[in-house]
Amino acid sequence: MMKATAIAPANIAFIKYWGKRSNKFRIPLNDSISMNLSGATTTTTVEFSPHFDHDDISFIGEITHEKETERIIQHLDRIRKLAHKKIFACVVTKNSFPKGTGIASSASGFAALTVSAIHAIGLTLTEKEKTILARIGSGSACRSIPDGFVWWHTGKKSSDSYAESLFPSTWWNLCDVLCVVSKEVKSISSSKGMDAIKTSPYWKSRVNQIPEKMDLVKTALQERNINTFGMLLEEDAISMHCVMMTQNPPLFYWNDATLCVMDVVYELRKNGVAAYFTIDAGPNVHIICEKKNEDIVSNEMKKVFGVQSVIVNVPASGAHCIKHHLF
Ligand code: PMV
Repeated sequence: MMKATAIAPANIAFIKYWGKRSNKFRIPLNDSISMNLSGATTTTTVEFSPHFDHDDISFIGEITHEKETERIIQHLDRIRKLAHKKIFACVVTKNSFPKGTGIASSASGFAALTVSAIHAIGLTLTEKEKTILARIGSGSACRSIPDGFVWWHTGKKSSDSYAESLFPSTWWNLCDVLCVVSKEVKSISSSKGMDAIKTSPYWKSRVNQIPEKMDLVKTALQERNINTFGMLLEEDAISMHCVMMTQNPPLFYWNDATLCVMDVVYELRKNGVAAYFTIDAGPNVHIICEKKNEDIVSNEMKKVFGVQSVIVNVPASGAHCIKHHLF
């Protein structure tokens, strides 16, 4: 049977990807580093069959938008081309968190789709090749394929823009306390938003700083130095949002609750709790701390006005196949 199911984690970047060198192949302007998230996953089952006369795409418990269907079919086309097979598919997807809200659902989504579809169609690819394929579907999806803490090399061309694991998920007992302050689908996707990066007067200075920051983050991870690591990741999130806010048109992804959560993080630090925030293209806030501080951080966050829910993540393994199919 040409059927397979894969589960893939979302990932949170410590040094972030904003801006593409190539739109067609989604080659980023800069390298990035991320961690896979245990509590924000996508599960996808793909079945190819000669009996199907069209591709059938659906999400369990969520509306399927036409644009998403188109992107998924384009990705299936890439995989069909690689496998030299003209055959339609049925794709069913289930997210453990709301899609399109800045919790990187396209990352876990395209990682799960890539891994399930290549297994279903019978292709054997190396991990590097899988990350390259997932990247063309959705840039940051390449970081959801390798294990744990992942480095995405920008590369000069498609074949050398890939992701690899720096440290396994067991390397460091970190936590990402994700504060969900909005479940609304963002009006401008990250993919579209970053296309205007060069309208910000600050983009070059951000991109030029990244190589040095990547090495510093790698060393802080290696040494498990939470204070250095936390300052670096918080600074990088602010730097990316500075670029976003100064683009034309400006992109303000934060809301009132985002700022309230940031304030509580600063308060916690004043009281000796090593907690640091990072924010993607949406209002939700990820708070990074060590496992020993998880309870205090999540209990404080649950009290913050506007925080709808708190999802605690630990470092997770990358995308992989599982036996239980969704249909
Ligand atoms: O791969 P995309 O289009 O979902 O872009 C991700 C961009 C950010 O989440 C804002 C940053 C990052 O590196 O994850």
